[in-house]
Amino acid sequence: MHAIVIDKPGGPEVLAWRQVPDPRPERGDVIIDVAASAVNRADVLQRQGLYSPPPGASPYPGLECSGVVAEVGPDVEAFRPGDRVCALLTGGGYAERVAVPWQQVMRVPEGVDLVEAAGLPEVACTVWSNVFMTARLRKGETLLVHGGASGIGTLAVQLAKAFGSHVVVTAGSAEKIARCLELGADEGIDYREEDFSEKVRADVILDIIGGGYLAGNVRALKTGGRLVVIGMQGGTRGELDLGALLTKRASVHGTTLRARPVDEKGVIVRGVVDNVWPLLDAGAIRPVVHARVPMSDAAEAHRLLESGEHVGKILLVG
Ligand SMILES: NC(=O)c1ccc[n+]([C@@H]2O[C@H](COP(=O)([O-])OP(=O)(O)OC[C@H]3O[C@@H](n4cnc5c(N)ncnc54)[C@H](OP(=O)(O)O)[C@@H]3O)[C@@H](O)[C@H]2O)c1
Repeated sequence: MHAIVIDKPGGPEVLAWRQVPDPRPERGDVIIDVAASAVNRADVLQRQGLYSPPPGASPYPGLECSGVVAEVGPDVEAFRPGDRVCALLTGGGYAERVAVPWQQVMRVPEGVDLVEAAGLPEVACTVWSNVFMTARLRKGETLLVHGGASGIGTLAVQLAKAFGSHVVVTAGSAEKIARCLELGADEGIDYREEDFSEKVRADVILDIIGGGYLAGNVRALKTGGRLVVIGMQGGTRGELDLGALLTKRASVHGTTLRARPVDEKGVIVRGVVDNVWPLLDAGAIRPVVHARVPMSDAAEAHRLLESGEHVGKILLVG
């Protein structure tokens, strides 16, 4: 098969489409003929040599894919060759074939085309596990989503609205805020113009900035609020005002999805299929796709992501 290989860390030009050995199914694995994958910010960090694949993971980038089951290993009963699926991967999505534990495989939601489905697993699992399982967002509560126009943000906005929350986003332009409002957000804050911590009080904050926003995030939490940090685009360190945290009886969580064991990912995937997929089946929420780029030209897709112009997901079509 072909895959995107990274021989040395660097810019988008180091992503090379090359012939590599096919994956073999281990016990419990599903082999997928990949129709598409999608770009995540973590792939850029992997390309730059700043985020190594966890032990045992494929060396090729790609945290999600869609496609058709080609083969299943021993002990797989949930899927059969020919099934149209998408999957949460620990790596290896930028390829013509990938092996993945069956627990991380999902059916393609009704009404979503096979290629579009490639952009769902990573964002759906991240938003479901953090906003709903960890932070337990409830109906009527306010969710603040930083980077509302990101791949993660565009799904978080729609899902939180579908579950009856008030949703506030931050974004870096009036155009991006307008897109978030179209997706259902109630309010948008242009972080270049205004300090969000002066404008919003939230029960739950989904944060992708990390250190640079820590103080503001704690300030913006309501009593009993839950801050979940999933990204560190603004650095790994910040000052935590424990006085404010204790007074508000608030909590701060940090999580990553990729390094979790298969069983934990399986619990998240089942939660997604039970709670998020029915909304996609019914057309109540939808994948937001910015562009489709040929997988062999992954470099162009990375340039696009790094330009910051996108809203939603950039797909890599095999
Ligand atoms: N921990 C986990 O398990 C996990 C899983 C998936 C993703 N993530 C993280 O989630 C983040 C989003 O991922 P993605 O793939 O969806 O990336 P993406 O589409 O490239 O989104 C990045 C977003 O950051 C926004 N942004 C930049 N500076 C900002 C600021 N100061 N305030 C608010 N927003 C700002 C950008 O929007 P503007 O143009 O509006 O600035 C952009 O929409 C990444 O940091 C990624 O590493 C974590």
